[in-house]
Amino acid sequence: MASTDIASPSAAAPASDAPAPATDAPAPATTHARPRVFSGMQPTAALHLGNYLGALKHWVAGQVERDNVFCVVDLHALTIPEAVDPADLRAKSRAVAALYLAAGIDPEASVVFVQSHVPEHAEASWLLGCVTPLGWLQRMTQFKSKTHGRESIGSGLLTYPALMAADILLHDTDEVPVGEDQMQHVELTRDLAIRFHHLFGEVFVLPRAVIPTAGARVMGFDEPTAKMSKSTASERPGHAVLLLDPPDVVGKTIMSAVTDSARETRFEHASPGVRNLLTVWQALDGRPMAALEAEVEGKGYGDLKKRVVEVVVAALAPIQARYAELLNDPAELDALLARGAERARETAANTLARMRAAVGVGP
Ligand code: TRP
Repeated sequence: MASTDIASPSAAAPASDAPAPATDAPAPATTHARPRVFSGMQPTAALHLGNYLGALKHWVAGQVERDNVFCVVDLHALTIPEAVDPADLRAKSRAVAALYLAAGIDPEASVVFVQSHVPEHAEASWLLGCVTPLGWLQRMTQFKSKTHGRESIGSGLLTYPALMAADILLHDTDEVPVGEDQMQHVELTRDLAIRFHHLFGEVFVLPRAVIPTAGARVMGFDEPTAKMSKSTASERPGHAVLLLDPPDVVGKTIMSAVTDSARETRFEHASPGVRNLLTVWQALDGRPMAALEAEVEGKGYGDLKKRVVEVVVAALAPIQARYAELLNDPAELDALLARGAERARETAANTLARMRAAVGVGP
């Protein structure tokens, strides 16, 4: 083979002596009536207001235009095995799935499932892992930061992007909505698909990362210059409002949000903390910012905060009620997840069959 530099993702472009595409593999589904969107969340931490206003709320709204697949990626949660509590992992996987549904994801319109319930993900991950150059994995920023200072490093932490690539590619995904931190993994997925095609023939739909622009960007209540984050929320109680927080906790967090010593409530002129409160209020209230500004003009921040508490508590109430219903009826949740896994499996099994045929394994 010519000097294909597998150390560089950009070198994944087909070389002239690439093997001819396998002819017995069925053609990939390259066109969908509606774009297929795949999103995954780890069942490691509780979802917060930033996840809701920045992502979930828009996924709910986008269910009609897009074909959505929502996955709870429990296999990804095994990459630091020392931190795994099996009973807790199982419970959290169900809880995150229930929160998706409680927030308004319609299990008929969208596919909601738990990654490990569809074993095709693990097999596809092996097939993709075998075409993944070690250098590509070692270069991942998240791998470097997650392994930094760690004594014992499981190989799952390194091969994690191959599993994420399997998630995305198995579902013929067109778009992957991600934050900046996951961009690199989606690019790697694309490079891996191209490399696989180069080695074994066309099998996959090529995905692309989309950074959601529609959602409100919610900042930490205790640090309004940093985006609200799950990991910070687990360390600092005043950082985030969690979707399952009871009203008194919501009140405490928002009433103690960082503001400033002035009385400026016009968004344009306000400090980051006040702007964050206005952003959350506006995202949930729906009226134009000017109307909200007029309502609190000259009133001080305590007043603004009270209104924010009110809208947040009102927005969370139905989500929490539906969540409680789902958890109180384990049979219904199990049935929804079983149905989700079954639907997810239809596409996943089809893609895996193309992969197996392409590489020459399987009965
Ligand atoms: N790696 C993602 C994260 O930690 C989670 C994830 C796994 C994911 N598989 C995915 C996200 C596929 C989007 C698509 O946030």
